[in-house]
Amino acid sequence: MPSLLSPDPTTRPATRCEPSRDCPACPRLVAFRHEARSREPAWHNAPVPSFGDPAARLLIVGLAPGLRGANRTGRPFTGDYAGDLLYTTLSEHGLSRGVFAARPDDGLSLVDTMLTNAVRCVPPENKPTGGEIAACRPFLSATIAALPRLKVIVALGRVAHESTLRALGERPNDHAFRHAARHAVGGVALYDSYHCSRYNTQTRRLTPEMFKAVFAAVRAELNAAG
Ligand code: URA
Repeated sequence: MPSLLSPDPTTRPATRCEPSRDCPACPRLVAFRHEARSREPAWHNAPVPSFGDPAARLLIVGLAPGLRGANRTGRPFTGDYAGDLLYTTLSEHGLSRGVFAARPDDGLSLVDTMLTNAVRCVPPENKPTGGEIAACRPFLSATIAALPRLKVIVALGRVAHESTLRALGERPNDHAFRHAARHAVGGVALYDSYHCSRYNTQTRRLTPEMFKAVFAAVRAELNAAG
């Protein structure tokens, strides 16, 4: 688990789980946010807060909000292609309640699950820099630290995998990213999946079956934990 005594400020939990609406930490992302606000004033256009159950045993870590998805709607994975596969899979494994309709007011709730992103602000071309990932890590660390019943983390993609490991005080070199791998890390099981992006699914790098198999393993582990 993350240590408050960590010498590395990027692994130290922030005092709060969510950045402020006008978080100034990453100048490039601030500029991108301001452009989006003037172009699309009705959109969320701010750090996207985590969504789910504060007593969750499962944390899912994505990459960053999509420009026309979470950055527009204000809820992780809501309004873009990646969310369709993710929320369908959560429903199939009893990890959500209600019907996902790709809008934050669809009444959906997550069951025993919290959903967050390694980077809370939308980055240009979906590609946060290493500095931006590090600057946002204290919020990921705080999110992890705020889940007292946490047992399992699913990292969607390599960026989420590495940032989660660092947030847990581990070295990414000691736990290589591999689809469907399970890493035991300080009392938590970290599962890897390729990100459920449109690109990965259209190229068949990630099939729905591959994705659902990861969540079947997670479901089995949560059931066994009782
Ligand atoms: N939407 C998110 O919130 N996160 C992702 O990683 C992708 C889409």
